[in-house]
Amino acid sequence: MSSSITSVLTENRSFPPPKEFSAGAKVGSMADYEALYRRADQDPDGFWGDVAGELAWEKKWSRVLDWKLPDARWFVGGALNLSVSCLDRHVSTWRKNKAALIWEGEPGDSRVLTYGQLHREVCKAANALTALGVKQGDFVAIYLPMVPEAVIAMLACARLGAPHTVVFGGFSAEALADRIKDAGAKIVITADGGWRRGAIVPLKDNVDRALEGSSVQKVVVVKRCANQVAWRDGRDVWWHDVVDKASVKHEPKAFDSEHPLFSLYTSGTTGKPKGILHTTGGYLTGAYYTTKMVFDLRDDDIFWCTADIGWVTGHSYVVYGPLANGATVLMYEGAPNQPGPDRFWDIIAKWGVTVFYTAPTAIRAFMRWGDEWPAKHDLSSLRLLGSVGEPINPEAWMWYRKQIGADRCPIVDTWWQTETGAIMISPLPGATPTKPGSATRPLPGIAADVVLKDGTPCKANEGGFLVIKKPWPSMLRTIFGDHDRFQKTYFGEVAGVYFAGDGARKDEDGYFWVMGRVDDVINVAGHRLSTMEVESALVSHPKVAEAAVVGRPDELKGQAIVAFVTPRQGFVADDALAKELREHVSAQIGALARPEEIRFAEALPKTRSGKIMRRLLREVASGSKARGDTTTLEDQGVLEKLAQSFSNED
Ligand code: WTA
Repeated sequence: MSSSITSVLTENRSFPPPKEFSAGAKVGSMADYEALYRRADQDPDGFWGDVAGELAWEKKWSRVLDWKLPDARWFVGGALNLSVSCLDRHVSTWRKNKAALIWEGEPGDSRVLTYGQLHREVCKAANALTALGVKQGDFVAIYLPMVPEAVIAMLACARLGAPHTVVFGGFSAEALADRIKDAGAKIVITADGGWRRGAIVPLKDNVDRALEGSSVQKVVVVKRCANQVAWRDGRDVWWHDVVDKASVKHEPKAFDSEHPLFSLYTSGTTGKPKGILHTTGGYLTGAYYTTKMVFDLRDDDIFWCTADIGWVTGHSYVVYGPLANGATVLMYEGAPNQPGPDRFWDIIAKWGVTVFYTAPTAIRAFMRWGDEWPAKHDLSSLRLLGSVGEPINPEAWMWYRKQIGADRCPIVDTWWQTETGAIMISPLPGATPTKPGSATRPLPGIAADVVLKDGTPCKANEGGFLVIKKPWPSMLRTIFGDHDRFQKTYFGEVAGVYFAGDGARKDEDGYFWVMGRVDDVINVAGHRLSTMEVESALVSHPKVAEAAVVGRPDELKGQAIVAFVTPRQGFVADDALAKELREHVSAQIGALARPEEIRFAEALPKTRSGKIMRRLLREVASGSKARGDTTTLEDQGVLEKLAQSFSNED
């Protein structure tokens, strides 16, 4: 695989946007892109003010931005109810009867909700939550499968000014408990289960375990699987019992632009995930603007982002971005290979999906499953493809373009993060010539650059830190409950600018090539995990004395977790223990964190000051086992060098 990557790279192929696409696009040429970029750069207030002006505000802001590093306040003095921009304003137009949500369950059931219907459901849910005691400022934890109620619950929370914290259904009871506690959630919305690969995910059971000894007062349970669940009277209520009878009328209150909208937990360099806090006006502006521009959205699009709502991609591109644009969203509950490896292609053909946005790890799995699966289906409705979550290797990019996009659909490789709230670097599909493996250029309004540790801009093709030099509306405002850590993590590495952990280089055309993380965050199948988090889980096991976790390149998942473990005296390091430890990590965090490989060692290599030499372990882990690569081989060395200058590195 590595040789083919290199050959594609040396060719440095570039694909111009198809002429028919550019003709109708919002930005149809590089000259138009450059002009827009310049305008945003020279007059950010005017630029972002115009974008925000396309949303529904109850009260207009008095200033676009207050910026005192690291604190940004956007649309100062403005007031809005986010759900009005996503629902009410469409319901007062022809879009009332347009499909907002086309949902397909894994067993094959489906539901379609028009904007009118979604609006009514959200109003009912908002009334029901109010009756259960939810007030402005209360945190609500959402632990749901990919069902319409997840979208309804998020929008109902936004409508009430009750920030949500969505926890991915693949996280374990332990991980859920940590997040509920950290956010101080008062209420949890879950389901009796969700369908995944033909089996039921026991969400309610996990909630019951997570809530032992907790002060959560109410658990609202969506009935999805007709699954038997334990019931705590007085605490547990069925969603249908409280929502179905609630009034369809709900008067939205306007909240300050900086009112918290949600916190979403993501992994950093420590053992404890951090709650990334986003606020209302700025976040919605970012989600709205990027959905409109990057996907060149049209009213007749059927937009499918395959991310789970438990991740930021699901927040911004399943829910808020597309709905703020009045788009039709496709949402699918289950696995891509249930009942067969062509489920996604079946869905695209069946519903006429026009824009498809997924992760490189999924694309690599499709490649492995074989070309015959997409070939069986009519994918001619597609007009645009997207990629997100990790660097996409050129080979996967080329496959995606040919087998799914029929060499006809542009591909947008979008770089961004939970912290950025919205896409930052991406082609504009009608304008930007694309190069396989590059996220191309920053969007207008985004001052991205690649710099050295002291802030000096890198030369062309020189590896450095990917930074954002100016504030942008959808930037995180803080780490929930730890403003100090927020300042240090994001603004403490490279003086005066935002840095969230990626190494990159810019080529002679100013195109960004993201290489991956320089901190102790690993990206496994597009999911962010910290090595420390997995280590903490391992050492919490009574048979483990010490553990060190590193990522090694993996052909399918991008990175795979390798754990080096020293057992406590008296315990045998055998396959049974390895299995036990893998299950233990899965129970502590979730299956997504289960180590691919456990290697037992009598001692871990340490520096004289006692720090584990992670770099050495990375080399050992990758060494003979590195079968191919997901990024470019020559970039790996640069990344290691950058990591050395990163403060969190040993
Ligand atoms: C990585 C997901 C290369 C990157 C939206 C970033 C990418 C982390 C890309 C954020 C891309 C995301 N090319 N790398 N197109 N998109 N990443 O917070 O390392 O789950 O820092 O947000 O994923 O992951 P997060």
